[in-house]
Amino acid sequence: MSRIDVLAVASEIYPLIKTGGLADVVGALPAALARLDVRVRTLIPGYPAVMTALAKACPVHAWPDLFGGPARLLAGSTQELDLLVLDAPHLFARPGNPYVGPNGQDWPDNALRFAALSRAGADAGTGAIAGYAPDIVHAHDWQAGLTHAFLHFTATRPATVMTVHNLAFQGQFPVQLFPTLRLPPAAYAVEGIEYHGGVSYLKAGLHYADRITTVSPSYAAEIRTPEEGMGMDGLLRARSADLLGILNGIDTETWNPATDPRIAAQYDARHLAQRRANKADLQARFGLNPDPAAPLFAVISRLTWQKGLDLLLEAEAAMLAADAQLALLGTGDPAMEAAFHAAAARHPGRFGCVIGYDETLAHRLQAGADALLVPSRFEPCGLTQLYALRYGTVPVVARVGGLADTVIDASPMALHAGVATGVQFAPVTAEMLRCAIQRTAALYRQPRIWQQMQRNGMATDVSWHHPAQQYANLFHGLLA
Ligand code: ADP
Ligand code: GLC
Repeated sequence: MSRIDVLAVASEIYPLIKTGGLADVVGALPAALARLDVRVRTLIPGYPAVMTALAKACPVHAWPDLFGGPARLLAGSTQELDLLVLDAPHLFARPGNPYVGPNGQDWPDNALRFAALSRAGADAGTGAIAGYAPDIVHAHDWQAGLTHAFLHFTATRPATVMTVHNLAFQGQFPVQLFPTLRLPPAAYAVEGIEYHGGVSYLKAGLHYADRITTVSPSYAAEIRTPEEGMGMDGLLRARSADLLGILNGIDTETWNPATDPRIAAQYDARHLAQRRANKADLQARFGLNPDPAAPLFAVISRLTWQKGLDLLLEAEAAMLAADAQLALLGTGDPAMEAAFHAAAARHPGRFGCVIGYDETLAHRLQAGADALLVPSRFEPCGLTQLYALRYGTVPVVARVGGLADTVIDASPMALHAGVATGVQFAPVTAEMLRCAIQRTAALYRQPRIWQQMQRNGMATDVSWHHPAQQYANLFHGLLA
């Protein structure tokens, strides 16, 4: 099979700019696809962190006016990523979070910022760069969704794929924006980018892309239902034949407990006892009692409604009754941040929390905790439970989306067969979470069973090997 050239368009990429799992996926998939002779170039916005990392990048295209100011496309590479950077200072020369300004609100011109990213994606996909003609343009999430609308209205275009990482983020803007986008009037239609009287960039991608993927098979089914389709389910049902769920993988080099330079003691599945040093390190960092026997639950998460962590606040008594400890790392909803701070203050030595974003601490939590809690109300894929499996931390997850697809519940049958890798609960309520915590603590106190679960998790293939093959098959099928 011949080589395929893919232009990916995304608003985040690890290790340059990250707010969540999207960055991890966009950062890791290219290396996995390269092994299958699929060459990925990724277009990202020129945020300050990106411009600094790509200081040596060369201009390959320019626009005198791209949504309000001059802009250039730069080509460069870093950490084995082949990148195109949209250098548009009027839109992206702003430090910090890529979407939110210092006042905690979305930047008021996000519609223009990501229309510009998408316009750049469409232009780069159709000959703007001399000698570069990708076979496929692959857009990720709403920020890149308009790419497919722009491409649809060009005379000749590459094949297109839209990946949904989270249907809850839809890129909705008022209809007044439409003329600014300079799409033909026909695009403002139900069979187009119109969405409840406004425009939706995500819908643009879902409507115009040749194929749609999302990040787990279960989520691909859920988003076709009215309960979980968030208004897009009709469109997604209509496009069922073109919709595919491909589970995310993880970068098994960045996340490898045997070599991870960020953790106190490295270990593998044959040396699980080494984890004790990591647990002690974690207990010290989170101000927890240095008790090796207490089941230590970790959380690494955005603190939002999606993630269900308000339910964990309701499970405080169950945690205490199980003699468990909690170490939480997260940022998000200010009320939830305050509530976890208060819980830690009420139960010193038992609950600890770090409010903030800290990549190194995330590794330490995975290496030192006994269990990882992910009580999400919905979860397209979820990556932290995959990191947990890799690190011998038992995931305790809501049975939704990708969490359902990646964890084998310690049911009596699974325990009997010796295949369990974690604990699942459903429905996603505080009561069921409390039961799951009790069940996990009880399993933890049976070392033989617990270690078997840890080893099963560590033996699970969470790499990009299979998922990358599925993307490659999709790309080949699309070009055939
Ligand atoms: P989502 O993308 O919905 O936030 P995922 O589980 O797919 O959820 O990915 C979250 C990613 O962000 C993981 O790599 C996780 O380790 C990381 N992460 C989340 N919150 C924090 C935090 N406060 N500090 C460090 N890393 C975090
Ligand atoms: C989104 C989803 C998460 C998924 C990630 C990467 O942020 O919320 O479940 O793992 O994208 O695909």
